[in-house]
Amino acid sequence: MDVLVCGGDGFVGQHLCADLVDRGHSVTALSRSPNPDVLPDEVETATGDVTEYESIEGAFEGKDAAVNLTALPPLHQPQPGTFHDTVCIGGAVNAAHAASEHDVGRYVEMSSLGAEMDSPIAYWRTQGLGDLVVEYSDLDWVVLRPSFIFGEGSETIEFIKQYTTPYVTVLPEGGEEPTFQPIWVEDVATITAEALEDDKHIGNVYDFGGPEVLTFGEVTRMLYRAEGKSVKIFSVPMEFAKIGLRMLDPITAIPLGLDQARALEMSNVTDHNDIDAFGIDESDLFSLSAYLEQGRPLRE
Ligand SMILES: NC(=O)c1ccc[n+]([C@@H]2O[C@H](COP(=O)([O-])OP(=O)(O)OC[C@H]3O[C@@H](n4cnc5c(N)ncnc54)[C@H](OP(=O)(O)O)[C@@H]3O)[C@@H](O)[C@H]2O)c1
Repeated sequence: MDVLVCGGDGFVGQHLCADLVDRGHSVTALSRSPNPDVLPDEVETATGDVTEYESIEGAFEGKDAAVNLTALPPLHQPQPGTFHDTVCIGGAVNAAHAASEHDVGRYVEMSSLGAEMDSPIAYWRTQGLGDLVVEYSDLDWVVLRPSFIFGEGSETIEFIKQYTTPYVTVLPEGGEEPTFQPIWVEDVATITAEALEDDKHIGNVYDFGGPEVLTFGEVTRMLYRAEGKSVKIFSVPMEFAKIGLRMLDPITAIPLGLDQARALEMSNVTDHNDIDAFGIDESDLFSLSAYLEQGRPLRE
Protein backbone atom coordinates (compact mmCIF):
# COMPACT_ATOMS: atom_id res chain seq x y z
CA MET A 1 0.00 0.00 0.00
CA ASP A 2 0.94 3.65 -0.44
CA VAL A 3 0.51 5.05 3.11
CA LEU A 4 0.44 8.66 4.33
CA VAL A 5 1.39 9.03 8.01
CA CYS A 6 0.41 12.46 9.39
CA GLY A 7 2.73 13.10 12.34
CA GLY A 8 5.09 10.47 10.89
CA ASP A 9 8.29 11.93 12.33
CA GLY A 10 6.98 12.06 15.93
CA PHE A 11 7.65 9.45 18.61
CA VAL A 12 5.04 6.88 17.50
CA GLY A 13 5.34 7.89 13.84
CA GLN A 14 9.03 7.05 13.57
CA HIS A 15 8.43 3.50 14.80
CA LEU A 16 5.29 3.07 12.68
CA CYS A 17 6.99 4.30 9.49
CA ALA A 18 9.85 1.82 10.05
CA ASP A 19 7.38 -1.03 10.65
CA LEU A 20 5.39 -0.16 7.51
CA VAL A 21 8.58 -0.06 5.40
CA ASP A 22 9.57 -3.49 6.79
CA ARG A 23 6.14 -4.77 5.71
CA GLY A 24 6.83 -3.59 2.14
CA HIS A 25 4.61 -0.50 2.07
CA SER A 26 5.51 2.86 0.47
CA VAL A 27 5.39 5.50 3.19
CA THR A 28 5.14 9.30 3.25
CA ALA A 29 5.52 11.10 6.60
CA LEU A 30 3.78 14.48 6.87
CA SER A 31 4.33 17.14 9.54
CA ARG A 32 4.86 20.89 9.82
CA SER A 33 8.65 20.56 9.70
CA PRO A 34 9.50 16.96 8.75
CA ASN A 35 12.85 15.57 9.87
CA PRO A 36 14.05 12.87 7.44
CA ASP A 37 17.01 12.06 9.72
CA VAL A 38 14.74 10.20 12.17
CA LEU A 39 13.09 8.12 9.43
CA PRO A 40 14.25 5.18 7.31
CA ASP A 41 15.74 6.25 3.94
CA GLU A 42 12.78 4.70 2.09
CA VAL A 43 10.28 7.11 3.72
CA GLU A 44 9.35 10.23 1.74
CA THR A 45 8.41 13.39 3.62
CA ALA A 46 5.73 16.03 3.02
CA THR A 47 5.26 19.39 4.71
CA GLY A 48 1.81 20.41 5.91
CA ASP A 49 -0.19 21.65 8.89
CA VAL A 50 -3.33 19.63 9.65
CA THR A 51 -5.02 22.80 10.89
CA GLU A 52 -4.75 24.24 7.34
CA TYR A 53 -6.65 22.07 4.84
CA GLU A 54 -4.96 23.46 1.72
CA SER A 55 -1.53 22.60 3.11
CA ILE A 56 -2.27 18.86 3.54
CA GLU A 57 -4.90 18.03 0.91
CA GLY A 58 -2.43 17.28 -1.93
CA ALA A 59 -0.50 14.75 0.19
CA PHE A 60 -3.54 12.41 0.21
CA GLU A 61 -3.63 12.20 -3.62
CA GLY A 62 -3.08 8.60 -4.78
CA LYS A 63 -2.73 7.15 -1.27
CA ASP A 64 -4.26 3.76 -0.38
CA ALA A 65 -4.26 4.43 3.35
CA ALA A 66 -3.66 7.20 5.87
CA VAL A 67 -2.87 7.36 9.58
CA ASN A 68 -3.39 10.49 11.66
CA LEU A 69 -0.97 10.71 14.61
CA THR A 70 -0.99 14.48 15.00
CA ALA A 71 -1.52 15.90 18.48
CA LEU A 72 0.04 18.46 20.80
CA PRO A 73 2.05 16.90 23.63
CA PRO A 74 -0.28 16.43 26.63
CA LEU A 75 2.52 16.76 29.16
CA HIS A 76 3.11 20.44 28.57
CA GLN A 77 0.81 23.40 28.37
CA PRO A 78 0.39 24.38 24.68
CA GLN A 79 2.57 27.25 23.51
CA PRO A 80 0.75 30.58 22.97
CA GLY A 81 -1.28 30.49 19.74
CA THR A 82 -1.54 26.68 19.64
CA PHE A 83 -4.63 24.89 20.90
CA HIS A 84 -5.62 21.25 21.40
CA ASP A 85 -8.93 21.90 19.63
CA THR A 86 -7.42 23.25 16.40
CA VAL A 87 -5.07 20.23 16.13
CA CYS A 88 -7.22 17.39 17.53
CA ILE A 89 -10.64 18.49 16.26
CA GLY A 90 -9.73 20.76 13.32
CA GLY A 91 -6.91 18.42 12.29
CA ALA A 92 -9.22 15.38 12.38
CA VAL A 93 -11.80 17.25 10.26
CA ASN A 94 -9.18 18.29 7.69
CA ALA A 95 -7.36 14.96 7.49
CA ALA A 96 -10.58 12.90 7.30
CA HIS A 97 -12.03 15.27 4.69
CA ALA A 98 -8.86 15.12 2.54
CA ALA A 99 -8.84 11.30 2.79
CA SER A 100 -12.48 11.19 1.73
CA GLU A 101 -11.93 13.61 -1.19
CA HIS A 102 -9.10 11.40 -2.49
CA ASP A 103 -10.88 8.07 -1.91
CA VAL A 104 -8.21 6.85 0.49
CA GLY A 105 -9.24 3.24 1.16
CA ARG A 106 -8.27 2.93 4.83
CA TYR A 107 -7.98 5.54 7.58
CA VAL A 108 -6.58 5.04 11.07
CA GLU A 109 -7.01 7.76 13.70
CA MET A 110 -4.73 7.49 16.71
CA SER A 111 -6.27 9.00 19.79
CA SER A 112 -5.67 7.94 23.38
CA LEU A 113 -7.27 6.06 26.22
CA GLY A 114 -9.44 8.52 28.16
CA ALA A 115 -10.33 10.58 25.07
CA GLU A 116 -13.94 11.47 25.86
CA MET A 117 -15.88 14.54 24.80
CA ASP A 118 -16.89 15.26 28.43
CA SER A 119 -13.35 14.96 29.84
CA PRO A 120 -12.23 17.94 32.01
CA ILE A 121 -8.80 17.72 30.34
CA ALA A 122 -8.47 19.59 27.03
CA TYR A 123 -6.17 17.00 25.42
CA TRP A 124 -8.61 14.14 26.02
CA ARG A 125 -11.78 16.23 25.41
CA THR A 126 -10.60 17.43 21.99
CA GLN A 127 -9.32 13.97 21.01
CA GLY A 128 -12.72 12.52 21.97
CA LEU A 129 -14.40 15.00 19.63
CA GLY A 130 -11.81 14.30 16.90
CA ASP A 131 -12.62 10.57 17.19
CA LEU A 132 -16.31 11.32 16.62
CA VAL A 133 -15.48 13.27 13.47
CA VAL A 134 -13.77 10.18 12.09
CA GLU A 135 -16.45 7.75 13.30
CA TYR A 136 -19.18 9.77 11.54
CA SER A 137 -17.16 10.08 8.30
CA ASP A 138 -17.70 8.00 5.16
CA LEU A 139 -14.20 6.49 5.49
CA ASP A 140 -13.21 2.90 6.20
CA TRP A 141 -11.88 3.97 9.58
CA VAL A 142 -10.30 2.46 12.68
CA VAL A 143 -9.77 4.45 15.92
CA LEU A 144 -6.91 3.37 18.20
CA ARG A 145 -6.81 4.56 21.81
CA PRO A 146 -3.63 3.39 23.57
CA SER A 147 -2.63 4.14 27.15
CA PHE A 148 0.80 5.70 27.90
CA ILE A 149 3.38 4.56 25.32
CA PHE A 150 7.02 3.94 26.26
CA GLY A 151 10.13 3.21 24.22
CA GLU A 152 13.02 4.90 22.49
CA GLY A 153 12.18 8.60 22.19
CA SER A 154 9.39 8.59 24.81
CA GLU A 155 8.78 12.07 26.22
CA THR A 156 6.82 10.72 29.18
CA ILE A 157 9.82 9.05 30.79
CA GLU A 158 11.88 12.23 30.45
CA PHE A 159 8.93 14.22 31.83
CA ILE A 160 8.65 12.03 34.93
CA LYS A 161 12.37 12.39 35.53
CA GLN A 162 12.14 16.16 35.08
CA TYR A 163 9.45 16.52 37.75
CA THR A 164 10.74 14.01 40.26
CA THR A 165 14.06 13.56 42.01
CA PRO A 166 15.84 10.42 43.11
CA TYR A 167 15.83 9.58 46.84
CA VAL A 168 12.92 11.90 47.85
CA THR A 169 10.01 13.10 45.69
CA VAL A 170 6.72 14.85 46.48
CA LEU A 171 3.69 13.97 44.32
CA PRO A 172 0.03 15.00 44.47
CA GLU A 173 -1.86 12.28 46.33
CA GLY A 174 -3.35 10.82 43.10
CA GLY A 175 0.21 9.69 42.33
CA GLU A 176 -0.42 6.39 44.11
CA GLU A 177 -3.64 5.54 42.24
CA PRO A 178 -3.28 2.97 39.42
CA THR A 179 -3.36 5.21 36.35
CA PHE A 180 -0.80 3.83 33.87
CA GLN A 181 -1.02 0.78 31.63
CA PRO A 182 2.16 1.38 29.63
CA ILE A 183 2.53 -0.22 26.21
CA TRP A 184 5.76 -0.49 24.18
CA VAL A 185 5.92 1.72 21.11
CA GLU A 186 6.92 -1.20 18.86
CA ASP A 187 3.80 -3.09 19.98
CA VAL A 188 1.71 0.01 19.17
CA ALA A 189 3.35 0.16 15.71
CA THR A 190 2.47 -3.52 15.09
CA ILE A 191 -1.17 -2.99 16.12
CA THR A 192 -1.45 0.15 13.96
CA ALA A 193 0.00 -1.57 10.89
CA GLU A 194 -2.39 -4.49 11.35
CA ALA A 195 -5.33 -2.08 11.75
CA LEU A 196 -4.39 -0.70 8.33
CA GLU A 197 -3.89 -4.05 6.64
CA ASP A 198 -6.77 -6.20 7.87
CA ASP A 199 -10.35 -5.36 6.74
CA LYS A 200 -11.82 -6.98 9.86
CA HIS A 201 -10.83 -3.92 11.92
CA ILE A 202 -12.89 -1.41 9.89
CA GLY A 203 -15.42 0.53 11.98
CA ASN A 204 -13.87 -0.40 15.35
CA VAL A 205 -12.66 1.72 18.26
CA TYR A 206 -9.96 -0.10 20.21
CA ASP A 207 -8.90 0.78 23.79
CA PHE A 208 -5.66 -0.93 24.65
CA GLY A 209 -2.63 -0.88 26.93
CA GLY A 210 0.29 -2.98 28.06
CA PRO A 211 0.56 -5.92 30.46
CA GLU A 212 1.14 -3.90 33.68
CA VAL A 213 -1.15 -1.53 35.60
CA LEU A 214 0.98 0.92 37.59
CA THR A 215 0.74 4.08 39.67
CA PHE A 216 2.69 7.23 38.88
CA GLY A 217 4.66 6.54 42.05
CA GLU A 218 5.51 2.97 40.94
CA VAL A 219 6.66 4.18 37.51
CA THR A 220 8.83 6.81 39.25
CA ARG A 221 10.38 4.19 41.55
CA MET A 222 10.98 1.82 38.58
CA LEU A 223 12.74 4.54 36.57
CA TYR A 224 15.17 5.35 39.38
CA ARG A 225 15.65 1.68 40.37
CA ALA A 226 16.81 1.05 36.78
CA GLU A 227 19.53 3.66 37.47
CA GLY A 228 20.47 2.02 40.76
CA LYS A 229 18.78 4.76 42.84
CA SER A 230 15.98 4.49 45.37
CA VAL A 231 13.18 7.00 45.79
CA LYS A 232 10.85 7.69 48.72
CA ILE A 233 7.59 9.34 47.72
CA PHE A 234 5.63 11.77 49.89
CA SER A 235 2.09 12.78 48.91
CA VAL A 236 0.60 16.26 49.21
CA PRO A 237 -3.21 16.55 49.08
CA MET A 238 -4.37 17.24 45.53
CA GLU A 239 -6.21 20.39 46.67
CA PHE A 240 -2.89 21.95 47.86
CA ALA A 241 -1.18 20.94 44.63
CA LYS A 242 -4.02 22.51 42.62
CA ILE A 243 -3.78 25.83 44.48
CA GLY A 244 -0.11 26.09 43.52
CA LEU A 245 -0.68 24.97 39.95
CA ARG A 246 -3.65 27.35 39.52
CA MET A 247 -1.27 30.22 40.23
CA LEU A 248 1.28 28.83 37.76
CA ASP A 249 -1.28 27.88 35.07
CA PRO A 250 -1.23 31.21 33.14
CA ILE A 251 2.57 31.07 32.88
CA THR A 252 3.07 28.96 29.76
CA ALA A 253 6.87 29.00 30.22
CA ILE A 254 6.17 26.64 33.16
CA PRO A 255 4.94 23.53 31.37
CA LEU A 256 3.17 21.90 34.32
CA GLY A 257 -0.42 23.16 34.65
CA LEU A 258 -3.78 22.21 36.12
CA ASP A 259 -4.54 19.77 33.29
CA GLN A 260 -1.38 17.81 34.07
CA ALA A 261 -2.38 17.60 37.78
CA ARG A 262 -5.97 16.64 36.90
CA ALA A 263 -4.58 13.88 34.65
CA LEU A 264 -2.93 12.33 37.70
CA GLU A 265 -6.35 11.92 39.29
CA MET A 266 -7.74 10.00 36.33
CA SER A 267 -7.34 6.34 35.56
CA ASN A 268 -5.77 5.58 32.19
CA VAL A 269 -6.42 1.86 32.41
CA THR A 270 -8.60 -0.23 30.07
CA ASP A 271 -11.84 -1.89 31.21
CA HIS A 272 -11.12 -4.52 28.57
CA ASN A 273 -7.78 -4.66 26.75
CA ASP A 274 -8.70 -4.77 23.04
CA ILE A 275 -5.32 -6.22 22.01
CA ASP A 276 -7.18 -9.53 21.74
CA ALA A 277 -8.82 -8.21 18.52
CA PHE A 278 -5.31 -8.43 17.02
CA GLY A 279 -4.73 -11.98 18.23
CA ILE A 280 -2.33 -10.67 20.88
CA ASP A 281 -2.21 -11.79 24.52
CA GLU A 282 -0.87 -9.51 27.29
CA SER A 283 1.96 -12.04 27.81
CA ASP A 284 3.09 -11.32 24.21
CA LEU A 285 3.68 -7.64 25.02
CA PHE A 286 6.93 -6.11 26.23
CA SER A 287 6.47 -4.66 29.73
CA LEU A 288 7.87 -1.38 31.05
CA SER A 289 9.64 -3.21 33.86
CA ALA A 290 11.38 -5.58 31.41
CA TYR A 291 12.31 -2.63 29.21
CA LEU A 292 13.84 -0.73 32.12
CA GLU A 293 15.52 -3.77 33.68
CA GLN A 294 17.23 -4.64 30.41
CA GLY A 295 18.33 -1.01 30.03
CA ARG A 296 17.85 -1.18 26.29
CA PRO A 297 14.99 -0.70 23.92
CA LEU A 298 14.85 -4.16 22.33
CA ARG A 299 12.73 -7.19 23.19
CA GLU A 300 14.67 -10.38 23.99
N1 LIG B 1 3.19 9.17 23.46
C1 LIG B 1 2.24 8.58 24.22
O1 LIG B 1 2.49 8.13 25.35
C2 LIG B 1 0.84 8.43 23.66
C3 LIG B 1 -0.10 7.72 24.42
C4 LIG B 1 -1.38 7.55 23.92
C5 LIG B 1 -1.73 8.08 22.70
N2 LIG B 1 -0.80 8.77 21.98
C6 LIG B 1 -1.23 9.33 20.69
O2 LIG B 1 -0.36 8.89 19.66
C7 LIG B 1 -0.29 9.92 18.65
C8 LIG B 1 1.17 10.23 18.39
O3 LIG B 1 1.76 10.67 19.60
P1 LIG B 1 3.33 10.95 19.71
O4 LIG B 1 3.71 10.65 21.12
O5 LIG B 1 4.05 10.29 18.59
O6 LIG B 1 3.36 12.53 19.51
P2 LIG B 1 4.61 13.43 19.11
O7 LIG B 1 5.89 12.74 19.33
O8 LIG B 1 4.38 14.77 19.76
O9 LIG B 1 4.43 13.61 17.52
C9 LIG B 1 3.40 14.40 17.00
C10 LIG B 1 3.60 14.49 15.50
O10 LIG B 1 2.56 15.32 14.97
C11 LIG B 1 3.13 16.39 14.21
N3 LIG B 1 2.26 17.53 14.35
C12 LIG B 1 1.89 18.20 15.47
N4 LIG B 1 1.06 19.20 15.16
C13 LIG B 1 0.88 19.17 13.81
C14 LIG B 1 0.14 19.94 12.89
N5 LIG B 1 -0.60 20.98 13.28
N6 LIG B 1 0.19 19.61 11.57
C15 LIG B 1 0.94 18.57 11.15
N7 LIG B 1 1.68 17.80 11.97
C16 LIG B 1 1.65 18.11 13.28
C17 LIG B 1 4.52 16.59 14.84
O11 LIG B 1 5.45 17.20 13.96
P3 LIG B 1 5.62 18.81 13.85
O12 LIG B 1 5.62 19.34 15.24
O13 LIG B 1 6.90 19.02 13.08
O14 LIG B 1 4.46 19.28 13.04
C18 LIG B 1 4.91 15.12 15.08
O15 LIG B 1 5.34 14.55 13.86
C19 LIG B 1 -1.09 11.10 19.19
O16 LIG B 1 -2.39 11.05 18.66
C20 LIG B 1 -1.13 10.85 20.68
O17 LIG B 1 -2.28 11.42 21.28
C21 LIG B 1 0.48 8.96 22.43
